[in-house]
Amino acid sequence: MSILAFRGFAGVRLEAEAIGAEDDPAVLLIHGAGQARAVWGSVAEALEMAGRRVISLDLRGHGGSEWPEDGRYDFEAFVEDLRAVLAQLGTRPVVVASTLGGWIAGAALEQDAAMLASGLVLVDTPVEADPDVSRRIGERLRATADLATGQAAWDRRLIGSLDTAAVAGRIAAAAPTIALPTLYVRGAVSEIVSRADAVAFVDRLPDGEFAEVEDAALVVREDRIDALGGHLVDFLERRAPRRSPEYRAGSDARTFRDALGCFATGVTVVTAVCPDGTPIGLTANSFTSVSLDPPLLLVCVANTAGSAPRLRETERFAVNVLQIGQQPTSNRFAGKGEDRFAATPWELGEYGTPVLAGSLSSFECAREAVHDGGDHFILVGRVLKAIFEPRRDPLLYFRGKYRKLHFA
Ligand SMILES: Cc1cc2nc3c(=O)[nH]c(=O)nc-3n(C[C@H](O)[C@H](O)[C@H](O)COP(=O)(O)O)c2cc1C
Repeated sequence: MSILAFRGFAGVRLEAEAIGAEDDPAVLLIHGAGQARAVWGSVAEALEMAGRRVISLDLRGHGGSEWPEDGRYDFEAFVEDLRAVLAQLGTRPVVVASTLGGWIAGAALEQDAAMLASGLVLVDTPVEADPDVSRRIGERLRATADLATGQAAWDRRLIGSLDTAAVAGRIAAAAPTIALPTLYVRGAVSEIVSRADAVAFVDRLPDGEFAEVEDAALVVREDRIDALGGHLVDFLERRAPRRSPEYRAGSDARTFRDALGCFATGVTVVTAVCPDGTPIGLTANSFTSVSLDPPLLLVCVANTAGSAPRLRETERFAVNVLQIGQQPTSNRFAGKGEDRFAATPWELGEYGTPVLAGSLSSFECAREAVHDGGDHFILVGRVLKAIFEPRRDPLLYFRGKYRKLHFA
């Protein structure tokens, strides 16, 4: 991480932090009123992992940027700050901005948009002059100010210095002039921007797209920020792709494994019962559907796995697909020395196979075939019974790490 300093309007010192390689395409993140750059935390990390240089700016009067003595927090000062930052950056970033940040970005890119930036993402930015919304924004800001204790992250003089209704009206008018690929992201239960207003705004953009984040009033919040990350990475890959992807190549085992790791999978636990009644099981992501009629599936099991000899012989087995909360179960069935079943709630299913409680889905199978496959064997099962829970999210595995869905 490095700290960058810029000169904004009338020489005000603005601070930003940057992560990611300097020659990766840049994304500039701009927070809302009464926030600071830290609010982007996990979005910034997700974008860095997706090959972007991520610069998170503190607006004047916020975080590490200067709180100007003259207390200038009028809208023009913010807009000129951003134009100055974009000019000093010189890398035409994609600008991602939330609420007040969105107004500033919209106005800053009203002219010369394509010279200053290569894309724009507006998050929860009110796009119609509505006095009711302005009042609510003012109230929210005052409430944040009242709640904040200890060292303040923003200058209270900001309150009352913005004519929010006028500013929202300005961005509404600016829409047709923002000549950039633009994504508008709205929290689906937003109180500050209606779906109809947001869609109408997107229609007036020269090149606009619209996305919504479920269950969110405001998107840039701890619990919904992953969803935003998903929308951003998707938008960036389509509209601002990296010019030269850096493929790694080789015919060695390491490269083979790493390339396989690019195939995102779910995670399962394959279970069976030994003749003496002892349950066995191991974590496997080599699960594949094979046939619908007859219903067949397969998993590949390492010949060196402790449970391999018994799994080869077993007449019946179950494949339990894990949900997001079962990461400990996945670890337990992949680790050494733990009593896997003692620590995991399970019961025998209708066909006598161990079904792990709380799984996303479970398939009870009869062994259909066993094929050798190098240092693994392919266990093909005929599905006798399937159960699933439609309202759970999966545990995912990608590049050697557990992942979760970016919720739409
Ligand atoms: C996410 C994940 C996926 C795995 N997938 C497989 C797999 O498909 N096949 C396999 O044989 N082992 C797989 N493993 C490794 C086994 O779970 C691990 O070696 C386990 O300790 C084997 O148990 P056992 O030796 O008691 O049979 C996976 C491990 C993890 C964490």
